[in-house]
Amino acid sequence: PETVPIPGPAGLPLVGNTFDIDTEFPLGSMLNFANQYGEIFRLNFPGRNVVFVTSQALIHELCDEKRFQKTVSSALQEVRHGVHDGLFTARNDEPNWGVAHRILMPAFGPMAIQNMFPEMHEIASQLALKWARHGSGEAIKVTDDFTRLTLDTIALCSMDYRFNSYYHDEMHPFVDAMADFLVESGTRSRRPPLPGFMYSKVDRKFHEDIKILRETAEGVLKSRKEHPNQRKDLLTAMLDGVDPKTGQKLSDDSIIDNLITFLIAGHETTSGLLSFAFYQLLKNPETYRRAQKEVDDVCGKGPVKLEHMNKLPYIAAVLRETLRLSPTIPMIGVESKEDTIIGGKYEIPKGQPFALLFAKSHVDPAVFGDTANDFMPERMLDENFERLNKEFPDFWKPFGNGMRACIGRPFAWQEALLVMAMLLQNFNFMPEDPNYTLQYKQTLTTKPKGFYMRAMLRDGMS
Ligand code: HEM
Repeated sequence: PETVPIPGPAGLPLVGNTFDIDTEFPLGSMLNFANQYGEIFRLNFPGRNVVFVTSQALIHELCDEKRFQKTVSSALQEVRHGVHDGLFTARNDEPNWGVAHRILMPAFGPMAIQNMFPEMHEIASQLALKWARHGSGEAIKVTDDFTRLTLDTIALCSMDYRFNSYYHDEMHPFVDAMADFLVESGTRSRRPPLPGFMYSKVDRKFHEDIKILRETAEGVLKSRKEHPNQRKDLLTAMLDGVDPKTGQKLSDDSIIDNLITFLIAGHETTSGLLSFAFYQLLKNPETYRRAQKEVDDVCGKGPVKLEHMNKLPYIAAVLRETLRLSPTIPMIGVESKEDTIIGGKYEIPKGQPFALLFAKSHVDPAVFGDTANDFMPERMLDENFERLNKEFPDFWKPFGNGMRACIGRPFAWQEALLVMAMLLQNFNFMPEDPNYTLQYKQTLTTKPKGFYMRAMLRDGMS
């Protein structure tokens, strides 16, 4: 077939498009290119080039695991300095991925997640109590408090470790170390090729942050080894699990890599989701009322329970629609397994790295027409969601693709449903600044920047 070249900005010799990317908000630059070039464009960086695809149709083609596989993007390559071949950052052909995947999948099965409900509930109650004590006189730093929630929840449920974030004004050092480590991993991946000593200060900080992450995880591992218990949690699976295929167990180093991986992957994304969800509820009062009414109808005034979780279809739709408009992981990387042609006309060599830009494909007008950028949870109710998925496969990909998709999805979903229900049941919320417009803070994930709200207790907490 006739092929056409892939468009893209020209860039400079040596550094390519390095300086075309906003260091504070790289996603913004990528969305601008998408608006300029359309469904596909190419960016050049020292030593590599990345093809970005932005339409539902091309994303669907690239989700075919027979032709494309996960690639460890240059940013993830930097994250590997901290967590090596842990589950998230392992290359597809690294044996430790398969070993860890097979050992850890059962620890995230439906029953295991349901058993975590009481501990999720406990941490969510700590958040609700804090906000109740605060009263409406004080503005809530939404993203900070959700980050405390999700970090404490993943650590307690999966490794019986208490960060006790609500008992400290300062965040645990792990949180800052992690945020700085993730930002710097992204920055390093776009570094202009200057002599190494130019970077010695930031490099030192990078490795100090990694040290904090690893020491935290080592502490968790050591304390479990000293006080063994019968909990059937993730850490037990890591310590005792035997890979059914190879008979291998996880080494201590691999356990530490994966503990950090779960602490990172298990909380940034969910905290962002909850923050964006409240932003959307406050912007859309009609949606807010409907969501709160659903909670009142289903949960009444008693405690939110496990059996309520699958009776909140509207809240689920709100969460889906939130992740459509603000996917907290806004893109993932794949590469071609063979020379190929995509979109019927773009020639691609084997091993070409791609970025699947979900932040753009999720608002493809070919799928959503004029209302692509509007927040309309109704279209995400089960029936409509399934209809869209049939007609436009892979139109919604916030949890990634295929065998490398998110292992923590059911965990995140239960946690987010529970927290939404408990908060809407107990509080009325108001924006701190009614004129706030959404801005993004980006590390490897995105969160709303500078978003504050106020919480007023409704009639008595449960
Ligand atoms: C993988 C999104 C919550 C653990 C992924 C990927 C995405 C994603 C897009 C694929 C990354 C890639 O292809 O490079 C999300 C979102 C979440 C969430 C949007 C919340 C709303 C969680 C939670 C955990 C978790 C709660 C842990 C309990 C992981 C791990 C992987 C992963 C370990 C790597 C899986 C593998 O490659 O085998 N996630 N995630 N995630 N996620 Fe999540």
